[in-house]
Amino acid sequence: MRASHLLAVFAPILAAAAAAQPADVNYDETKVPKFVLPDPLLFADGRRVADGKEWFGKRRPEILRLFETWVHGRCPAPRVRLRAQTLETDRNALGGRAVRKQIVIFFSNDPTGPRMHLLVYLPARATRPVPVFLGLNFRGNHAIHPDPAIRLAEVWIQDPRQKTWIKQTAPETTRGANASRWPLERILQRGYGLATAYYGDIEPDFEGGMRYGVRPLFFRRGQTEPADDEWGAIGAWAWGLSRALDYLETDREIDARRVALIGHSRLGKTALWAAAQDTRFAMAVSNDSGEGGAAITRRRFGEQIHHLNARFPHWFCRNFRKFDHREDDLPVDAHMLIALIAPRPVYVASAEEDRWADPRGEFLAVVHAAPVYRLLGRPVPELAEMPPVGKPIMDTLAYHVRAGKHDITAYDWEQYLNFADRHLKAGRR
Ligand code: GCU
Repeated sequence: MRASHLLAVFAPILAAAAAAQPADVNYDETKVPKFVLPDPLLFADGRRVADGKEWFGKRRPEILRLFETWVHGRCPAPRVRLRAQTLETDRNALGGRAVRKQIVIFFSNDPTGPRMHLLVYLPARATRPVPVFLGLNFRGNHAIHPDPAIRLAEVWIQDPRQKTWIKQTAPETTRGANASRWPLERILQRGYGLATAYYGDIEPDFEGGMRYGVRPLFFRRGQTEPADDEWGAIGAWAWGLSRALDYLETDREIDARRVALIGHSRLGKTALWAAAQDTRFAMAVSNDSGEGGAAITRRRFGEQIHHLNARFPHWFCRNFRKFDHREDDLPVDAHMLIALIAPRPVYVASAEEDRWADPRGEFLAVVHAAPVYRLLGRPVPELAEMPPVGKPIMDTLAYHVRAGKHDITAYDWEQYLNFADRHLKAGRR
């Protein structure tokens, strides 16, 4: 059966499966247990971090190691020099409004091995290197915009009857299918470029998908599974973002010191982890990233660690499974993931109806990351109360809760562009 038919037939079944939620979910604020958050500014031995030097020299590496060991696993350094091949440059794209580039990045010396297609749009007639938003996409590059010149991606789709996954060239009918999530014209008009790649190019998102992605490239002889503290799929996707940045650094039309990471949902978890590890990223945006992303896990509101590990066993490192139903024992929480990005700007956003991702938990992670920004001399907003729906708060840290469902919308992007204007306008960095 052709991919287009498969999608048409099974889309409703897939949507229903995605909506089904485990029975043991708490959506009652009065049932959120009392908890104590680990203090990002206390060393493991109980001593307080005195200044920025101690933060960067000792405490930050300590926290990074905790995330590597217990949550995401370690990401390896690339072993080979990455080869990038530019397939296309069109200086007259989108009716003359943009420069479009399509690049393949090979992750190994084997040209048939895993490789990532990067799609780049830059504002036409820019007079100097432009800042860029970089984010992975869920459905292939061609799905982010109806532009007929975007190459149709090879995407992974599941046949739910046979439970098997196949990789196929996406049907023409999916061109622009996710365009509402990528307001490209607006981004360009505001003076930013956009770079994106299909996350399935780095590793397909299903249990067992690892063998088609980059992780096996780093196995030792005889190794077939990552060790308990080695990377999961989110680690692999984050690693892929850093490889995209390696490429962006070679493009003279781009200012690689002004690259803002952006990600929605599981890709928001990915954006945070990528920015936490790779300090070359100038800014990070987490849109509805929820559990395992920006939401405080100790609240046990909406999705919890055991839900994640049961439904997506390939996302995190194996050690993370030790914390199923034991969130208080985890030596870190989401505020520390954000703190790892300090003093770089971070925007966390929620959607009111997205209770699964715990909007209040996402807000509180920002609140509890703020002391690290203060220590580093960065202005952070007064964060006593969660702001009302549709009223962003913005400083070096930013937060909003938008009306509506789990999604990334034009409203969300408008705030991220405002935030980028504050922090990435030329001369600021
Ligand atoms: C599921 C999952 C979330 C994730 C989301 C997404 O709902 O439970 O953790 O963020 O998918 O990526 O859309």
